[in-house]
Amino acid sequence: MSKVLMGRMLAVMALVPTVAGAARLNLACGSVGQEQELCRQGAEAWARQTGNEVSLVSVPTDAGQQLTMFQQLLAAGGRDIDVFRIDVVWPGIVGPFFIDLRPYFPESDRAAFFPALMRNNTVDGRLVAIPWFMDAGLLYYRKDLLEKYHQRPPETWQALAGTAKVVLEGERRAGQARLTGFVFQGKAYEGLTCNALEWVDSFGGGTFVDAQGQVTLDNPRAVEAVSFIASLMGNVVPRGVLSYEEEGARGVFQSGNAVFMRNWPYAWALANSAESPVRGKVGVMALPRGGPDGRSVGTLGGWQLGVSRFSAQPELAVQLVKYLTSAEEQKRRALVASFNPTRVALYRDPDILRANPFMGSLEETFASAVARPTVTGAKYNQVSADIRNAVHATLSGRGAAQESLQKAHQKLVRLSRGGRW
Ligand code: GLC
Repeated sequence: MSKVLMGRMLAVMALVPTVAGAARLNLACGSVGQEQELCRQGAEAWARQTGNEVSLVSVPTDAGQQLTMFQQLLAAGGRDIDVFRIDVVWPGIVGPFFIDLRPYFPESDRAAFFPALMRNNTVDGRLVAIPWFMDAGLLYYRKDLLEKYHQRPPETWQALAGTAKVVLEGERRAGQARLTGFVFQGKAYEGLTCNALEWVDSFGGGTFVDAQGQVTLDNPRAVEAVSFIASLMGNVVPRGVLSYEEEGARGVFQSGNAVFMRNWPYAWALANSAESPVRGKVGVMALPRGGPDGRSVGTLGGWQLGVSRFSAQPELAVQLVKYLTSAEEQKRRALVASFNPTRVALYRDPDILRANPFMGSLEETFASAVARPTVTGAKYNQVSADIRNAVHATLSGRGAAQESLQKAHQKLVRLSRGGRW
């Protein structure tokens, strides 16, 4: 493990003094937006209830960096973390390092979660993690600005660009020099793979690798999609996006400096928080289609909780996972921080729907969210890296989409051994 990551981890662990007799668990949860705070509150509530202690392990915001940190720790049989938060695309990568949770979650418990997520988290018949919250890419827009310029929320990417231009022209004439059109996650990391999947699939260009494992990345629709977004760079899209993760995009949008933003559900609660300059001015909708024949695509994201096979207290760790994924705790997290529940019944909870109207109105977006190509199994991370690096190069003006996608396609074909990942 790199010294920086190890240092960061150790700095945060060992914050809480152990009370004699109480057991201590180490939990690694997220750090984007309000995640760390919400996780800490949940863990503390469980600790108080059970007389145990939980320390939070700090993790990088970048999902790929987190994966590297976890892989290094787990490959060395490290006992430093008992409960891990894992990304929806990781079960095939880190699954073997987690205990099978089926014996602890009887069928009646398991049936409460979205079946697709449970299937996703089942590797070789073992349930390696419990879905904690679910994500799908959404389009946030400034209701007030669209109304001011008599623009409708855009149904296609082309309309988004056109609307952004109208608003930008008007607002810049009025002296709003800092306003930009559209921000998203454009850094060369996992978030860009998610955005690129939405563009490409919405133009009819598929999901990079199909369900049978065949590489489809380089095709005319995919090239059209990436070329279209690349054509917005420097006009509708500020070049700064090339280094934005989720929080970079949210910072610009929430401070009032973007008309549109692509982000996950967590941005809703923050955009409408008491301190937010855009509170009450934000609309949220399904992402645009790739032209009149295209469709709207939101990438499926989300995080699960799993128990390390090296934990010295696996049974206790399972109790913590049960608590954090319970209906009560998921409801609290949805109300305070707009994390989408993974339990089906919570989508009928009136309090949750009142706090997060989009969870009801965009049901279809969540139900049909498109998965990244995890048919690539343990190689997913390499596949994702090749794709996002190619897209990042083109967005940065280094090579046309055709060229970048073709090169990445060839790399993936070599990696795929004829589709038998
Ligand atoms: C969100 C998603 C996760 C995705 C990540 C990329 O956290 O839930 O699935 O990998 O964003 O940045």
